[in-house]
Amino acid sequence: MRKLHIFTRALLILLLLNASVNLHADEGMWLPNLIQKLNIEDMQLKGLELSAEEIYSINNSSLKDAIVSFGGFCTGEVISSQGLILTNHHCGYGQIQKHSSVEKDYLKNGFWAMRHDQELANPGLTASFIVSITEVTDSVLSPGAKSRSGKDRQRIIESNIKRLEKEAVKDGHYEAQIKAFFHGSRYFLILKEVFKDVRLVGAPPESIGKFGGDTDNWVWPRHTGDFSLFRIYADKNNMPAEYSKDNIPYTPKHHLPISLKGVEENDFTMVFGFPGRTNEYLLSNEIDFIKNTLNPIRIHIRDEKMKVLQTNMQSSDAIRIKYSAKYARLSNYYKKWKGENMGLKRSRAIDKKQKEEADFKRWANDGAFADVYKNLEEYNALSHPYQLLLNISYEAGLGIDLIYFGFMLERFCQSYDLAELDKKKNEELKQRFLKRFKKMYKDFDLKTDKAVAEALLPILDKSLSEIKGSNVLYNGSIWADMDDYINKMYSKSFLTDSNNVFDFIQSYSKSKYKKSQKDIGMQSGVFIAKLIARSRLSYQPIQDSMEVYQGKYMLALIQKNKDRTYYPNANSTLRLAYGKVEPYFPKDGVFYHYQTHSSGILQKYSSGEKDYVIDERLEKLLKEKDFGDYEVNGKLPICFIASNHTTGGNSGSPVLNARGEFIGINFDRNWEGTMSDLNYDINICRNIAVDARYILFVIDKYAGATYLLDEMSLVR
Ligand code: ARG
Ligand code: GLU
Repeated sequence: MRKLHIFTRALLILLLLNASVNLHADEGMWLPNLIQKLNIEDMQLKGLELSAEEIYSINNSSLKDAIVSFGGFCTGEVISSQGLILTNHHCGYGQIQKHSSVEKDYLKNGFWAMRHDQELANPGLTASFIVSITEVTDSVLSPGAKSRSGKDRQRIIESNIKRLEKEAVKDGHYEAQIKAFFHGSRYFLILKEVFKDVRLVGAPPESIGKFGGDTDNWVWPRHTGDFSLFRIYADKNNMPAEYSKDNIPYTPKHHLPISLKGVEENDFTMVFGFPGRTNEYLLSNEIDFIKNTLNPIRIHIRDEKMKVLQTNMQSSDAIRIKYSAKYARLSNYYKKWKGENMGLKRSRAIDKKQKEEADFKRWANDGAFADVYKNLEEYNALSHPYQLLLNISYEAGLGIDLIYFGFMLERFCQSYDLAELDKKKNEELKQRFLKRFKKMYKDFDLKTDKAVAEALLPILDKSLSEIKGSNVLYNGSIWADMDDYINKMYSKSFLTDSNNVFDFIQSYSKSKYKKSQKDIGMQSGVFIAKLIARSRLSYQPIQDSMEVYQGKYMLALIQKNKDRTYYPNANSTLRLAYGKVEPYFPKDGVFYHYQTHSSGILQKYSSGEKDYVIDERLEKLLKEKDFGDYEVNGKLPICFIASNHTTGGNSGSPVLNARGEFIGINFDRNWEGTMSDLNYDINICRNIAVDARYILFVIDKYAGATYLLDEMSLVR
C-alpha cells in the first residue's frame, strides 16, 4: 500500500513537471481543417483513437458532418439516421416558449411529439452544416491589400471577399462566408449547407431542463438535464428546403453513436462546436477596463432590470411566460460578468498580463514590432468611452421595450425612405418589420415595461452624462422631468398599442413619419438611435486601428514565443477543443469530483428552494432508483466536467470520447473558470456537460418516448 503511494506520488510529480513544460496543452479552440497539421499527434498521445481524416474530411463523411450551427447562436448534433438533432434546453428555449401558452405550458410541463406529425415547425430557425473550410489569405490580401493600409486596404479586402464568396457558390446550393482569423492576418472560406425546416421534437419540463435555475447557472456541481430535441427536414432529394408538410426527415452523412459506457477520470474528451467570441490576447489596460468599468455598470443595469421583472413575473402566469426567455437571457450574462470579474481578480489576470507585456516590450525593443504595444494601448484607451456609451445605450436605453420599439420603427422609416423607389424592396421591408413587431408585442406587458423604464431611465441619463473623453456630446437630457416624462410616455405614446404600429407600417408615408416624430415614445427611440449612430461613426476608425494593432500584437507573440502553438480567438466558426475528464480544486482544501448523480437532485430538492423543485414523476423514479439501463453501481449519472476550452455558442456541443462517440452535451462552465474568455487557466477552467445516460433516461424512462431511442445508435 505504502509502496504504491510512493510510486503514485512519483508519477504525479513526473506528470506535473511535464504539465509545466506543456502548460497550454489543453487550452485552445482549434480549426478542424488544421488538426492534421497542428494537433493530431498531441491528441493521439492523449488518447484519441481517431485519425484527423475521421474528424474532418471534405471527401468522406467525418465527425464534422454530424455537427450543426443551431440557429447561429448554439450548436447541435445529429444523433440519428433520421435527422434527429440534440441541443440544449436553453438553446431551444425561445422555440419552446413560442409554442407555449397558459393552456399549453411546454416550459412548465415539457413537450414530446409521439409521432412525426406532432413535431412543431419553427419558421426562421436554421441548422447549418459545414461543408468545407479553406484558407484564402493570399487571395483576400492580394492583389493590392498587402501594400496598402487604412481605408484603402479595407476596401480592397472587402471587395476581394465579396468576389471570392460569390465565386465559391456559383454552381450549387451552398452558402459561403469568408471570416478573418488572428485579427485579420489570416482568412478562411467557409462553405455551409443551411437547412430551414427544423422542428421541435421534445423538451423536458423546466424542472429538468433548467433544474437549478439561476442559482446553479455557471456553477459546478450541477444536476441539470439541459437538452432538447429537434429534427431536420429536407425535400424529397434530401436537399435544404423551406418548411413544407411534404418535407421528409433528413438523412445525414454522419450521425453520432451514443455511448452508454460513461466517463472516468482522465478520459480523453473533445468538444466540437461553434464558440462565439473570446479575447485571449488583450492588453492589461483592456482587461482593466472590462473588469473595473464595463462589467460593473453592465451588472448594475441588469440587476435593476431583473428585480423589476421578477416582481412582475411573479404576479401572473401570462407575464411569466412573456418574459421568461428575456429574463433568462439577462440573468445569464449578468451572472457571467460577476463570475468573470471574480475570476480575473483571483487569477491576477492584470498582473499576469502586465508581466507578459514588460517582457514583450523588452523583446520588441526597437525591432519590427517596436510600436505595436504602445499603439495598441493607446487605441484601447481611446475606445473606452465609446464602448461604454454603446453598452449603456443598449443595456439601459434599448433595454426598455417601448424605447426599443421607437428605435426599431425609426429604423424601418429610414430603410423605407432609402429604398423609396424600389416597390418590391419596400414591400419586403414592411413584411419583415411587421413580423418582428408582432413577435415583440407578443412578449410585451405595458405595466411591466413602465416599471422597467422607471428603473433604467435614471441610470441611463446619469451614466451618459458622466462619460468623459468621447467627442460624442450628450448635450443634456431630453428626460428633464423624469417621472412626468415616463407617465406621459406610457399613457400617450402611440407605441403603447401594437395596432397603431402595425397600421403605421402598413400604410407608411412621409407625412406619417413627420407626425410620428412628435410622439413622446418615438422621440426617446430616435434620441438613442442618433446617439448610437454618432458614436459608431467616431468609434469605427478607432476600432479598425485596434484590430490592426491587435493583429500585429498577435503576430509578434507568435514570433516571440516559438514553443507555443497559437489558436485564433473564437469567432462563431466551427472549432474543436480537447481535454480530459478532470476534477478541480475550487479553493484551498476543497475538491470537486468530476461526476454528479441523481442523489444530488434529491438533496437539492429537499432544501425546498424554488430553483430545485422537481415533479412527482421524476421524484418517484429517482427515489425508487428506477434507472433502467442507465444506472452504474446503483447510481444514475447526471452531469460531468472536463477540461475542454469552451465559450458561449458551445452550448449544445457534443462532448465526444476517444472514439468520437457522444458521451454528453456541453451546456456551461464552472464559476471559478468563467474568466476563461479573457484569461484561460487550465488548472481551474472546466466545461460542464449533461451525461448521455441522463439524457437517455429522461427520454426513455421519464417521457416514455422510446421510439426515439430506436432511431439512435447506442453503444453499450
Ligand atoms: N450559462 C449557460 C450559458 O451560457 C446556461 C444558460 C441557461 N441557463 C440559465 N439558468 N439561464 O448559456
Ligand atoms: N451556456 C453557454 C452557451 O449558451 C455555454 C457555456 C459557456 O459560455 O461556456 O453557449
